[in-house]
Formats: sequence, structure tokens, C-alpha cells
Amino acid sequence: MTVPVRRFFAKSSHFCRQKSTAEVTRRDFAGGLAQRIVAIMRLREMRQLVRLRSVELDATRRRLDSCHDVADLRRVAKRRIPRPVFDYVDGAADEELAAGGNSAAFRRWRFLPRVLADVGAADTSATILGSPVPAPFALGPAGYTRMLHPDGEIGAARSGIRHGLPYTLSTMATTGIEELAAGVAGGAAGPAVGADLWFQLYILKDREQAVGLVSRAADNGYRVLVVTVDTVVAGNRLRDQRNGLSIPPELSVRTVASVAGKPGYWLRLLSGPALDYANFAGRPPTTIMKSADFFDPGINWDDIAGLRSRWPGKLVIKGPLGPADARRAVELGVDGIQLSNHGGRQLDRCVAPADLIAPVREAVGPSVTVLVDSGIRHGADVVVALALGADAAVLGRAYLYGLMAGGEAGVDRALDLLIGQFTSTMRLLGVTSASELRKRGRELISEQG
Ligand code: FNR
Repeated sequence: MTVPVRRFFAKSSHFCRQKSTAEVTRRDFAGGLAQRIVAIMRLREMRQLVRLRSVELDATRRRLDSCHDVADLRRVAKRRIPRPVFDYVDGAADEELAAGGNSAAFRRWRFLPRVLADVGAADTSATILGSPVPAPFALGPAGYTRMLHPDGEIGAARSGIRHGLPYTLSTMATTGIEELAAGVAGGAAGPAVGADLWFQLYILKDREQAVGLVSRAADNGYRVLVVTVDTVVAGNRLRDQRNGLSIPPELSVRTVASVAGKPGYWLRLLSGPALDYANFAGRPPTTIMKSADFFDPGINWDDIAGLRSRWPGKLVIKGPLGPADARRAVELGVDGIQLSNHGGRQLDRCVAPADLIAPVREAVGPSVTVLVDSGIRHGADVVVALALGADAAVLGRAYLYGLMAGGEAGVDRALDLLIGQFTSTMRLLGVTSASELRKRGRELISEQG
């Protein structure tokens, strides 16, 4: 083997020497150097030098395999999706200060690892609202998910189920309550053993309609009702306003221009059923801003008491609750608090939910479920969340970027990456179980000045 390899290096360096560095263009490389490699070396010899990687023929798989964190998925999504749609997901309210602050609040913490802790067997399992999960994650609600990819809510829920994680259907979903329940019960992913479906409720001006949604969720086996309380008026989403985004997308000069730029997206969109707010079929098109006209700005604690008496399952309030509000919710019989500022999409400059975890945990005690969302982009963020006293993290954009990058398989990729990061961070920190992290985590993190 040594002779041909030496001959190869001699010849290829001769090839490079013949031209100045500037002259060795990419084409030279591909056409010249690569040809010489093939000509000089036999395949068997090359195999001894480098391990040949099998080529992934599926383009989506190849694209997703090239993503190694959520930031990569976001980049791919941005490339593939028309600007107004990407901005609908990626954008936030006003100057987007809250959105930026959310991630920063997780990243302010530094780890103080315990060494020699025998992390050979790391148990990432946890319990969310009485149900076991293999890792402390859930998928949060997102309106209009099928606009991001035709796999939509059903694809995201199936991916969650495959990972043993709960999925939350939004009031403003493009898949109806019944349709999702039926969609995850069969189909390509097989029967949904252990599907854990949650339903997110916006309390509507039309209370009869809201009560109807709650009954339909109960009748279709949804286990948890998540009541979002931070959307009493529309968030001031400037990117959506500047892009003139309408729901469903309407044909405008801009839309036509983006069809030309991203034909694949439009082909996929047009090949699926028409987009609609599936839980309110038949309403005329509206802008995202105007869709908040559905919601009642007059909601108050009596509504929570009413829902508590009506809903038989676990009840969660989702919003930026401080310690006093969290205590009040628990007094009314709420089972869990989902600390959230809607990913910065509602009240800009709102406190980061990460900063609410410790005070809210202290206020409600150890047995009330505390979930957190907003700004989670890495498994290490979830380690920080648990160390501060949360029971689990709820994902928003982190899985939606995956959906935009590659449909259901993209959500799989996002979940695999996040769970992998969570597991390795926990082990490097010297922690052998998620429950230990939850109980003793405060000793293992330190806030940066
Ligand atoms: C949301 N979110 C949301 N929340 C909710 O209660 N009902 C909904 O219909 C929606 N819709 C929605 C659409 C899109 C495109 C996004 C990005 C978010 C908020 C979501 O559930 C969650 O609170 C945030 O996404 C969390 O912030 P990060 O993790 O995305 O930064």
C-alpha cells in the first residue's frame, strides 16, 4: 500500500505546484486532483486510508443529517420557507426584546460539575402531570402549523408520540380536535401507544364556543387542558405587519414573488387540504393580528374557576405568572403552571420565564407541576430549567424550525438533538438522573455576574 500512496501524494503535490494557489480553483480540484486520486489509487487502498461514508439518497434526510443543533435547523428553515411564513414563526412582538431576553436568561447560568460521579447509567426519565416521559420535554401549542409544512399538527404530534412526549394542540390549529385524535391513532406511524394529547384553550368572546371546544377535547381523550392567559389582546408583531401576512395566505404581489423564489414550498402547500382555523371552520380570511379578535380581553379568575369545575383532567395555566398569581392559581385547583411569555410574541419587555422558575417554585411548593417555555433552544437550557426547579420544558420554535426544515422527520431531528444534548449535559455535570437534577440542581449552577 505504501508505494501507491506515496506516488499519489507526490503526483498531487506536483499538480498543485504547477499552479499558483489562486489558480487552483474548485473546478481544478474536482476535475484534476480528484481524477488523479481515482486514477492512481485503487478503491481498496482508499478504503484503508479513509472510511467511505454511505451516501444518503433521500434529500430531506441528507438535509436534516447536516443539522447538528436547533440553530442549524433554523438556518435550513430560513432557506426553504418564504420569508413571511418564516417570520411568522421566528418573529416576536415590537422590538423583540423579550424574545432575545428569553434565551439569554437560560444562558446566563454556568455549570459547576461534580466529577467522578459514575454517570455510566444516566436516567433522563421524568413525570409530567402524573404521566411518565423518557425525558422532561413536551411540545407546545402553535397556531397555523400546516402553513409551515403539510405534515402540520399531526406530523408534530406523531413525532412527539414516537419520543414518548406530550403534544399540545392549539385552539388556532389547522387540524381539528377530532382530526388530530384520529390522525395519531393510525396512519404511517402505526397505532399511537401511549399518545399524550393536550389541548390549549384561548378563552373566546363566544363562551359557548369555548365550552364546546373544552367538551370536544374531553370527549376525544385529551388529558390536559392548557389555558393561555397572555393573549387578551393581539401582540404587536411588526414582522407580520410589514410582510402583510394573512391567514390563510392570500394571493398578493408579494405572495406571487415568493412563489417564484420557493416553488417547492408552494407545491407542498397546494398539494394538501386548504388551510383554515380547523376548530372554527368556515370563517373568512383574516390577518394574524385580527385573529386575536376571537379572544376575550375580559377574562379573569372566575373563568379559571369555571374551567376547573368543567374540565375533568389536569388543568394548566400558561402565561407569565409571578409567585402571587401562581399561588392563586393553585388555590383554585390548577394542577400546573406553564411559565411562558409566548416566546416574546405578546408583551415585549416581559420578564423571561426562566427568571420566574425559582420564585414560582418557592411560592407553590414542591408538589405543583411547574413547566417552562420561551427561549429553549438547547438541551442545556432544559438542564438549567430543571436545576432551577422546573419539572419539564415545553418546546415552541425549537420543534417548529425542525418542521419547516423537513416536516415530521425534521421534528424528529429537533427532538433527537435536544434530548441528546440534555442527556450529555446532565452526565458531564455529574448527575445520574433528571429527578436528582430537579432536587439538587441549584448546587450545580451559578449565575454569571
Ligand atoms: C406560538 N405560541 C402559541 N401559544 C399558544 O398558547 N397558542 C398558540 O396558538 C400559539 N401559537 C404559536 C405560533 C407560533 C408560530 C409560535 C412560535 C408560538 C407560543 C408557544 O406555545 C410557546 O409559548 C412559545 O413558542 C415558546 O417560546 P419559544 O420556545 O418559541 O421561544
